[in-house]
Amino acid sequence: MKTELLIIGSGVAGLTLAVKYAETFPKKNITIVTKGTEDESNTKYAQGGVAVVLDDKTDSFQKHIEDTLISGDGLCNKDIVDMVITEGPKRLKELMVWGAQFDLDSTGNLDLGKEGGHSEFRVVHYKDITGYEIERALLVRAHQLTNIQILPHHFAIDLITEHQLNQNASCTTCFGAYVLNENNKEIITIQADSTVLAAGGIGRVYGHTTNPSIATGDGIAMAYRAKARIKDMEFVQFHPTALYTKQEGSAFLISEAVRGFGGYLRTKNGVRFMLNYDDRAELASRDIVSQSIDTELHKTGDSCVYLDCTHLDLDGFKNHFPNIYNTCLENKIDIRKDWIPVVPASHYVCGGIEVDRNGKTSITNLFACGECSRTGLHGANRLASNSLLEALVYAHNIYKYHVDFPVSGKKLEIPDWQDHGTNNLKDGVLIADNLKKLQTVMRDYVGIVRSNQRLLEAISLLDAIYTDVDALYKTSQISTALCELRNMVNVAHLIIGQSLERKENRGGFYNKDNV
Ligand code: FAD
Ligand code: SIN
Repeated sequence: MKTELLIIGSGVAGLTLAVKYAETFPKKNITIVTKGTEDESNTKYAQGGVAVVLDDKTDSFQKHIEDTLISGDGLCNKDIVDMVITEGPKRLKELMVWGAQFDLDSTGNLDLGKEGGHSEFRVVHYKDITGYEIERALLVRAHQLTNIQILPHHFAIDLITEHQLNQNASCTTCFGAYVLNENNKEIITIQADSTVLAAGGIGRVYGHTTNPSIATGDGIAMAYRAKARIKDMEFVQFHPTALYTKQEGSAFLISEAVRGFGGYLRTKNGVRFMLNYDDRAELASRDIVSQSIDTELHKTGDSCVYLDCTHLDLDGFKNHFPNIYNTCLENKIDIRKDWIPVVPASHYVCGGIEVDRNGKTSITNLFACGECSRTGLHGANRLASNSLLEALVYAHNIYKYHVDFPVSGKKLEIPDWQDHGTNNLKDGVLIADNLKKLQTVMRDYVGIVRSNQRLLEAISLLDAIYTDVDALYKTSQISTALCELRNMVNVAHLIIGQSLERKENRGGFYNKDNV
């Protein structure tokens, strides 16, 4: 199959690019492959909103830039921060033109929320389901454009580079991707002039995560195997307030905007401990809040801390956070009288595939945007609600680059996917078992607080998992679960390896041995 633009992923990054490109080039084909249903993505679960400067009486680009730089703890690329933040309002307006709704205040202007690390109210939101609304609006617009083809339940396995054509070649150009059609289990070759990775985050590498199960780092792993440059993977962001339940796996998020609305963090005994850690208390940046919670939990031996909303205006809370209010009730937490039990959970990867300001990776004709990319905006710790913003801006930049410099792919004979000598894997337990081992290593040795000894232990345990998974991969017929596991092993390797290389603590990265 041939297409002009192949986009891997249908979250905010992939869909925004597709819509812009399709509107400008009605004669060109855009193919989006996405491994689940078309809306399943991290985007769909985003709560707080999009950080943009709209109110120039109290706020300014300069303030948002400074907040981003402070949060990034000295490792942001200042030029990129300036560019993303000043582009923000234009990109948000486009989203609104395509039909995305955001809450208005009593004067009819966009209602602005506040989150950790922000000095001003500047987070545009739709209730506490902003991502759901953005995803909805983008899909409606994408379906109106007949030159966009969305292929749900299509799993991208690997990028096609020179390596597939000549085993000894270095990988310098991307020609598309091999994709597993989940509906009939066929592996198809999609040849593209330009290929864009918009494949999202890595949360599931840690068992306990705010991310849905699709977040297995596939885009980063594919790019890594194709030898693209991958950077800053040690900066995994742990969100301070995931709802604490006794269940493993995906955790429901209690938005940082709840602290922006006035919620207090307390220990079991009622101490408002954040006052002891940072002048901004509950609204310190999330690396600081997560590390403080981790310290408190180690001090007390408790399993969680609490978010106290009992003093807040109930009608206001229900109006702004209906999803959080109802989910708490389903968990028998009545926020009028009960504190919400919360713990940190893996949430976002600040690093990823290195790109320039046009979204170009180090491989020709391969672009990346959204959470799988590393642009330089976030540095050592992403400022809350800067991720949707970054995805919108970089989708635009990749689109603009294609307008200014049309990409024409080389016409080549690409071999079909080779799976000789593989058998149908009958025993799914082997995959589940290795996944569990991997997530245990990441939780126990590569969490909020790391040490050299923990990281070295993690590497040696990971080596054993890698050997098992590699053997399975080479002898079994391709399945999504096996490919995801292989990708998560690659991603874990990158996180641990880059953590060992970092010799000073910054932002979300803390190694006890770096002093
Ligand atoms: P995603 O939205 O994750 O989309 C990735 C897409 O790639 C999916 O369609 C997926 O199925 C597809 N895919 C992945 N691998 C493959 C493969 N191998 N083959 C085919 N398809 C594949 N950020 C903010 O700025 N503000 C917020 O308020 C906010 N709240 C959040 C709340 C939660 C609970 C979570 C989890 C994240 C939140 N974030 C927030 C972060 C933000 O939502 C994400 O970083 C952003 O949505 C990522 O968008 P994306 O398009 O890059 O990736
Ligand atoms: C939240 O609503 O707390 C998440 C915001 C973000 O991840 O940017």
